[in-house]
Amino acid sequence: MNAPITVSVTGAAGNIGYALLFRLASGDCFGKDQPIKLRLLEITPAMGALEGVVMELNDGAFPLLHSIEISDDANVAFSGAQQIFLVGSKPRGPGMLRSDLVRTNGPIFTGQGKAINDNAADDVRVVVVGNPCNTNALIAMNSAPDVPNGRFTAMTRLDQNRAVSQLATKLGKTAGSIGKMAIWGNHGPSMFADYFNAECDGTPIPELVSDAWLKETFLPTVSKRGKAIINARGKSSAASAASAAIDHMATWFKGTAEGEWASMAIPSQGQYGVPEGLIFSFPVTISGGEYSVVEGLEFNDFAKAKLQATIDELAGEREAVSDLLG
Ligand code: NAD
Ligand code: LMR
Repeated sequence: MNAPITVSVTGAAGNIGYALLFRLASGDCFGKDQPIKLRLLEITPAMGALEGVVMELNDGAFPLLHSIEISDDANVAFSGAQQIFLVGSKPRGPGMLRSDLVRTNGPIFTGQGKAINDNAADDVRVVVVGNPCNTNALIAMNSAPDVPNGRFTAMTRLDQNRAVSQLATKLGKTAGSIGKMAIWGNHGPSMFADYFNAECDGTPIPELVSDAWLKETFLPTVSKRGKAIINARGKSSAASAASAAIDHMATWFKGTAEGEWASMAIPSQGQYGVPEGLIFSFPVTISGGEYSVVEGLEFNDFAKAKLQATIDELAGEREAVSDLLG
């Protein structure tokens, strides 16, 4: 058994938190040989509900769950944190865009970025789930000058998983047959689910499915899936979001298998012409806890236009929070 690692989760009494914590405790993320210490953050009015969640976690009698601490102070919740899930923030309701949340949720990430800067472990790694997650990650990163920028990431793994599932269903396969499914750009309406580079059992997707279906059905289904779930459930995705957050951090922790890609929103270093500093989703490979953007992919004119649209959307979000970027 390894030494325990410290894992912090914000918004721990919320919908995603409720689905996430039990999977973390059971070893689904960091492995069945990796004990964890949980440090959970909530706002003060939700501390009572969080105490109930802790009772349930204890009642799960998880052998890997070393300890649980709860707090309404980010400095306490991030103390010594090595793996951080920034979930706590307001979800959108029907009729809203994720970017409508930026002025409400953005300020949360200035304070939490600073608290990570001052209290987290040197090897900290952060995924932002709270929306609009790319731009919230940008805000947190800018508030943490002592933490290497690349440690701040945002979650587009849910979009990857949605894209994989749509393709697998269309082809009568299971999700494991679909590979190299890259999401480019924003976890927002402009995201580009790059079917040109995706494969089913090694065969390029464009050779298996009509371009009309890919453009007219696949792309809008993936990019509007969050809204479809809100319309159906009356609440935003929770268990699938938690599952994707587990996938994101598990892949970062354990690495990608040979020939496998993962989509993560990371600070751009100018790859593929994406302006430096934007938190932009790229396909990456990961080894030893370090990710590298997949190089040398080709874009046709349609894909180039999609890439530009998502760059423009993220640049607009960055502009809207310029006052929060120090
Ligand atoms: P929720 O309202 O059920 O839970 C959010 C929790 O965060 C609440 O318990 C609230 O008290 C807490 N919270 C609010 N402000 C906080 C703060 N400053 N510090 C700590 N905790 C705080 O919402 P949810 O369904 O769990 O969704 C959480 C966020 O995740 C939303 O912004 C939602 O849009 C986003 N989300 C993102 C993705 C993605 O793919 N990136 C997917 C689904 C949901
Ligand atoms: C999702 O994609 O399900 C989340 O980002 C929630 C939302 O607002 O769509």
